Amino acid sequence: LKLGVLASGRGSNLQAIIDAIERNELDASIEVVISNRAGAKALERAKNHNIPAIYVDPKEYTGKEEYDLALVKVLKRYEVELVVLAGFMRLLTPRFIEHFPNRIVNIHPSLLPAFPGLEAQKQAWEYGVRYSGCTVHFVDENMDTGPIIDQEVVPVYQDDTAETLAERILEREHRLYPRVLQWIAEGRVKVRGRKVYISGLSN
Ligand code: GRF
Repeated sequence: LKLGVLASGRGSNLQAIIDAIERNELDASIEVVISNRAGAKALERAKNHNIPAIYVDPKEYTGKEEYDLALVKVLKRYEVELVVLAGFMRLLTPRFIEHFPNRIVNIHPSLLPAFPGLEAQKQAWEYGVRYSGCTVHFVDENMDTGPIIDQEVVPVYQDDTAETLAERILEREHRLYPRVLQWIAEGRVKVRGRKVYISGLSN
């Protein structure tokens, strides 16, 4: 499965995906990593593994759609089959999404539909939930609302801060994302409306 990863920052999820591929746990290849931020550590991580790393500067485009179409162009040039959002801090326009129907996935650091949007771990900690986690979902036109593929749950402890909770969730993200991508690579994931069916799962 040919992946194209979009990332804006640290890129620890990108790294987890790279590592899973190198350990032969994920039958996929990362064809290109694209960022909207020149200094994104994700770009550096890609280069370290000889993966094409491309910065697309939003300031060079007149609007969101023009920008998104520039991203589409790069992804098509690299023949990307699945677009993987890994800390990509922009909402994609419908013009982008129509080029990859049910072929865009995202990871979010909460148990959706709770706490969509920015700083989800802090939102969860401030709310006082006893459990939180992370979610991998298909991407639709709205923020963090697409069909859910899989989730992992983590407890929130009494002495947690938003930061310690975020760390605990991040560890799980790094397991969850490669696992879901492998299911997709195996052709086991089907979407019907809001429901996602994964063949061969016991639950
Ligand atoms: C992760 O917490 C992910 O869930 C969210 O953005 C963060 C990206 O972290 N969408 P990283 O860049 O993968 O380290």
